[in-house]
Amino acid sequence: MKVCFIYHSYSGITRKVAGEVRAACGGDAIEVVPRPRYTPLTAYTLGCVRARNGTCDPIDPEVIDVSGYDLLVIGTPVWAFRATPAVNAAVAALQGAEGKRAVVFATCGGSPGETIPRLREALAGKGTRVVGEMVFMRKDTEDAEKVAALSRMVMNAAGES
Ligand SMILES: Cc1cc2nc3c(=O)[nH]c(=O)nc-3n(C[C@H](O)[C@H](O)[C@H](O)COP(=O)(O)O)c2cc1C
Repeated sequence: MKVCFIYHSYSGITRKVAGEVRAACGGDAIEVVPRPRYTPLTAYTLGCVRARNGTCDPIDPEVIDVSGYDLLVIGTPVWAFRATPAVNAAVAALQGAEGKRAVVFATCGGSPGETIPRLREALAGKGTRVVGEMVFMRKDTEDAEKVAALSRMVMNAAGES
């Protein structure tokens, strides 16, 4: 059973959670990076508008072939109550995602809004079923038990593959 972690992280929090869960569960990681990278000014102006509109950023890598994996773990920071434009692009870039299962998680300051439902919907458009989801508020990302709960969710989902 192979697990692929796919995430974007602007300030490092989503990367940290993904890294800790991957250390516990194993698997490969793909960090998507928007082109051009955001600055503090463009993240809160351009980035929030693009997130709000569900826009896809140009990203590296441009194509994400997941045909060799059984389970996807997709992590996003919350921007303007939505997934980031880089994560929108990551979902759009998936190839071979039909029939796969996914665990999704978001990290946020405290207001995730519609991030998870919209991500679930976007993945459904790729033929991928979300079997687990978790939101981390700012304080949760330092909570080892909450991170362990996500690791257990991923391991359980991987075990069912
Ligand atoms: C441009 C921008 C917009 C944000 N919008 C929200 C938001 O709508 N709701 C929220 O709870 N947190 C919001 N945040 C906080 C981030 O979601 C939170 O700090 C997240 O954990 C950052 O993850 P990262 O370090 O992986 O980028 C925003 C942060 C940025 C930079």
